[in-house]
Amino acid sequence: MKTVASLDLGTSKIVALVAEIDSYGDMHVIGIGEAPSRGIERGQITRLDLAVSSVLRAIKEAQEMAGVKLNSVNLGISSPVLKSQNERDTINISPQPVEIDESQIERIIERTTIRAREEGYEIISAIPRKFILDEQEGVLDPVGLLGSKLAAEVHIVKVGTTLLRNVEKVVKSSGINIADKYPSIMASAEAVLTQEEKEEGALLLDIGAGLTDFILFTEGSPIITGTIPIGGNSITKDIAHFMKINVEQAERIKLEHGFALSDLVNESERIKIRPRGEDKETMVSKKSLAEVIQIRLEEIADNVLEYINTQGINISIINAGVVLTGGSAKLAGIKEFFERYLDLPTRIGYPTGVMGLKERIQNPAYSTAVGLLKSKSRFTHGYSVNYQNSQNVGSEGKVKLTGLLDKLKSFFKEVL
Ligand SMILES: Nc1ncnc2c1ncn2[C@@H]1O[C@H](COP(=O)(O)OP(=O)(O)OP(=O)(O)O)[C@@H](O)[C@H]1O
Ligand SMILES: [Mg+2]
Repeated sequence: MKTVASLDLGTSKIVALVAEIDSYGDMHVIGIGEAPSRGIERGQITRLDLAVSSVLRAIKEAQEMAGVKLNSVNLGISSPVLKSQNERDTINISPQPVEIDESQIERIIERTTIRAREEGYEIISAIPRKFILDEQEGVLDPVGLLGSKLAAEVHIVKVGTTLLRNVEKVVKSSGINIADKYPSIMASAEAVLTQEEKEEGALLLDIGAGLTDFILFTEGSPIITGTIPIGGNSITKDIAHFMKINVEQAERIKLEHGFALSDLVNESERIKIRPRGEDKETMVSKKSLAEVIQIRLEEIADNVLEYINTQGINISIINAGVVLTGGSAKLAGIKEFFERYLDLPTRIGYPTGVMGLKERIQNPAYSTAVGLLKSKSRFTHGYSVNYQNSQNVGSEGKVKLTGLLDKLKSFFKEVL
């Protein structure tokens, strides 16, 4: 049986998953490894030795549980130095309409990625959003159709080169090869969003410990991918600061008593805290705790909205609403907060689409790792490129699309 594995390097935890794919194509998770994250913060490596030992711990646990030795993993990339853009390009194919094949799509994607190249960044994903065949807009899949001119809009995600090299170094130093790299939030989307949500317009937020990754889908494909360097850790630190307690106590209070919307908390509810330097416990109101939490959530929501705005996108396209995932989506009242603050329907996104070890996998903090198992360079209409850029940038500096054709072919096999 074929096995696949994934690795999610989070700020709070490292997760490695192993799954088997059965003859029906169903995926069964057979191994889970989780280790506290050390030497990794907001997707960046802060200490090589600690990062490697955390990864080794997670991999070892997953391997032992699955009873297999891992050779390679699908790796999630998230970072504050991650950004996206949409590039359009047109190619003339022939004066007379001819049948469009994969090579033309490959060429058009290649041209948009060359245009999107930027010093200090590497492209980790390029997904065609839509095609225009001659004057016909809204073509979902031009392969096999006749045309003389093909245009495409491609959603491109890039990330800081230095960050990427260091993350790769950690994985390779752990004795593991990287099968493919994906933006973590695209993996989360793969695990959490329904096709209908992607079609109708949905905003997915993966609120982790150090980062809030987000992705906006319309018409079935991503239009904005971004990251904000604020997550659950900021909430915990705020609680520690305002209540004059240490971070460990603040984290415990957040998990036990935290609520995201202060309006919904009763004035009379009190919780015990032990402030720094005091021998005795004192009481604080649960409402004031909720106020502290709410301020950070407003900041996260404001930042996401502002980013979407600066890209010239109106949030009225989010018809299917907001989906929240990541560990911080477990915060009590967070659904109600986003519903009210953004005035959009909101749900909590749990990873779906895999079998086995369900009770452990059914956790919003596992969305990225589960999605990475499912990721097959295919998030939209079937065309998606993920670059092994380090190897693929030729001497002339041109991005070579090695492997794309194979991926396209395997997709066509799947849909046929
Ligand atoms: N029940 C809960 N209520 C509130 N917050 C929670 C709860 N459970 C977990 N969290 C928060 O979720 C965060 C961890 O989420 P997650 O595991 O998704 O992060 P990560 O992937 O390690 O980090 P990142 O993606 O930001 O690098 C922590 O800040 C933790 O406090
Ligand atoms: Mg995460």
